[in-house]
Amino acid sequence: MTVESVKPATPGTSGTPELREPPLAGGGVPVLGHGLKLVRDPLAFMSGLREHGDVVRLRLGPKTVYAVTTPELTGALALSPDFKIDGPLWESLEGLLGKEGVATANGPRHRRQRRTIQPAFRLDALPAYGPVMEEEAHALTGRWKPGETVDCTSESFRVAVRIAARCLLRGDYMDERAERLSIDLATVFRGMYRRMVIPLGPLYRLPFPANREFNRALADLHLLVDEIVAERRASGQKPDDLLTALLEAKDDNGDPIGEQEIHDQVVAILTPGSETVASTIMWLLQILAAHPEHAEKVRTEVESVTGGRPVGFEHVRALTHTNNVVVEAMRLRPAVWILTRRAVTDTALGGYRIPAGADIVYSPYAIQRDGRSYARHLDFDPDRWLPERAKDVPKYAMSPFSVGNRKCPSDHFSMTQLSLITAAISAKYRFEQVDGSDDSTRVGITLRPHNLLLRAMPW
Ligand code: HEM
Repeated sequence: MTVESVKPATPGTSGTPELREPPLAGGGVPVLGHGLKLVRDPLAFMSGLREHGDVVRLRLGPKTVYAVTTPELTGALALSPDFKIDGPLWESLEGLLGKEGVATANGPRHRRQRRTIQPAFRLDALPAYGPVMEEEAHALTGRWKPGETVDCTSESFRVAVRIAARCLLRGDYMDERAERLSIDLATVFRGMYRRMVIPLGPLYRLPFPANREFNRALADLHLLVDEIVAERRASGQKPDDLLTALLEAKDDNGDPIGEQEIHDQVVAILTPGSETVASTIMWLLQILAAHPEHAEKVRTEVESVTGGRPVGFEHVRALTHTNNVVVEAMRLRPAVWILTRRAVTDTALGGYRIPAGADIVYSPYAIQRDGRSYARHLDFDPDRWLPERAKDVPKYAMSPFSVGNRKCPSDHFSMTQLSLITAAISAKYRFEQVDGSDDSTRVGITLRPHNLLLRAMPW
């Protein structure tokens, strides 16, 4: 099963005359509304909302936010032109990462930017990334010593950043830079979530160690991106990669795009590309440790496909069970657990009235763990993605890369590297958690284990 096999259906928005007001979700309290519950236990809160309706109203302080709770309507939302990327979360992201990148743009600029970046992520572009993905996957396991403890957070971040940076912004200099990038990005993501959820404004400017560390990492991230762009220009080289595509891109008038847009585009591609993949690798490692029977099954598959040789890019297509393990990990532990949109006009969703300017929220985590969509919904069961069973999964009940015009451009790129890394790791090691490891879920911009520490043991 690939994530793409769950096909989009026709949009479910409609302009029926007798539109209803979505019900107010239960459990709100005066003044704060549902805000406290959302902050205290966001995953449980989002997962419980379907009990109250397909679309429900939430009160967050003085603000009304609409939550969409069914697979069908999340698909309709993502596919409808009546909703765009906007809202408080995106505004704080823009403030930190830049206003001109693809992840936050809308309308014609967004379409033009997608046209520029898309070729680097197409299926036929992947084979050129194969050698880097292989090298990085084997370097990862090569660094681990049998019996030693692996700090899964830093290891996962490092391999994710190195693959994105080396494949998409190619160049020898990336080897050392990737290291700096991975440290900066890990720090920036930690601080960014706090700033998005608890907007304390000026307090984040006080010279506390955590603020200083965050500001230093953010400044270094922007500096690094400037260095990468300047060095590529100075080299006079134009390899066939994403950076060249960005440097050569033209705006709608046929003029070169501005320096700020080039900078923001590189940031907008590196940032979602590292945290999401890193978090997913952490969960895959956690699952391999928690389910030795699945680790064994992956190892057996890898051995039979490779004949005992080091696993490579050319093997990925044949590693169907490994791929299903990755998909099932992404179902239960989706890196992107919450998504938002804003209505650009008075519109409707599932027969409910949505006013222009309304903020809409939905949770892939809640959708992908819903017992109405999945039998034994909380079990880790990779075989549910065998073709004969996957066909029973409702449309949009498994869309970890989203659908529609904001769909992640990197779905194939990500799935390939995740399957390759899972295969390379499982071929060499089995894992157990060590004292001090904490695999409980840490809610941030992505979901990941708090502090996963594993002992790597040869088979
Ligand atoms: C957008 C998930 C890896 C680049 C998105 C969106 C999702 C997503 C759900 C849509 C957001 C929305 O609808 O608001 C994931 C997951 C990944 C992953 C689960 C890996 C496990 C990557 C990688 C890159 C990347 C490796 C780049 C190297 C982007 C970009 C966007 C995006 C640029 C914005 C697209 C747009 O707004 O047009 N991703 N992503 N992602 N992702 Fe990914």
